[in-house]
Amino acid sequence: MSYKFGLIGYPIQHSLSPWIHDKFLSQLRLEGTYSIIEIHPENDSFDQEMERLRNSDLDGFNVTVPYKEKVIPYLDELDLQAKQIGAVNTIRSQDGKWIGYNTDGIGYVRSLVSAYPSIEQNKQQQILLLGAGGAAKGIYHALKFNHFSNITIANRSIERAQEIKKDDDVTSVITLQEAEEQLSRYDLIIQTTSVGMKPHIDDTIISLEHVKEGAIVSDIVYQPLLTKFLQEAKRRSCPIHFGHTMLLYQAQYAFELWTGKLPEMTGLADELQSVLEG
Ligand code: ATR
Repeated sequence: MSYKFGLIGYPIQHSLSPWIHDKFLSQLRLEGTYSIIEIHPENDSFDQEMERLRNSDLDGFNVTVPYKEKVIPYLDELDLQAKQIGAVNTIRSQDGKWIGYNTDGIGYVRSLVSAYPSIEQNKQQQILLLGAGGAAKGIYHALKFNHFSNITIANRSIERAQEIKKDDDVTSVITLQEAEEQLSRYDLIIQTTSVGMKPHIDDTIISLEHVKEGAIVSDIVYQPLLTKFLQEAKRRSCPIHFGHTMLLYQAQYAFELWTGKLPEMTGLADELQSVLEG
């Protein structure tokens, strides 16, 4: 058989997903294609596009901005992560039904554990999540799902952080200034905002002056790969975790949902790094 996958969103001409999924297909010696299906938000043709995709022979597709929420009413089922996050980035077509998933958070945790397997040994470690947008929400729920329970969310807007925490008594919410001052409490620091992304490469969300010795510092921004935040972590001899690995592992999980096969990830982060660095 030949698989048919795709991506809907706008703008997506520069998406790295076709590159990643083509790698997976060829590595596993599977026939298939992954196409870009750009849907212009101003066309008002979303209904028709969904209808067209329903009638196509796609086995599954990814969903990105601005359709991660808009696509939900068109689905027959929603998995737990997608439900908790309220957004879908992967759809699997099975016997004519569409099932929606969100692979971002689980993909992030997979990428982290693959870089630092020892973090699985101590699920009681103190985790600081910087940011409270869609990405933070996905990572928060995936950490919880993987039994990492001690999470503090720091965000510029406290209300948004409270919305993620909801009534979870274990999770704390603090300001960015408090995060900076109390940084030495945390064993793992995860930067989930867009701060530091090209072209604003000199920005950082907080100073790492008070970082705990040996704390793992992670940044989901991957353009540039070595953000100012990660540069500072490196300077302070902290182990670092790069954002492009999340991209690879969320794709790996999507591919697994579509095919039941798990691509091998060795070497892919280096290859993607070369692509990103042109
Ligand atoms: P995404 O889905 O990529 O997470 P988002 O939902 O727009 O994007 O969330 C962006 C996150 O980056 C939020 O946590 C946002 O903080 P607010 O909730 O206070 O807006 C954060 N963010 C963006 N620019 C920021 C800045 N200059 N300083 C601090 N936080 C910033």
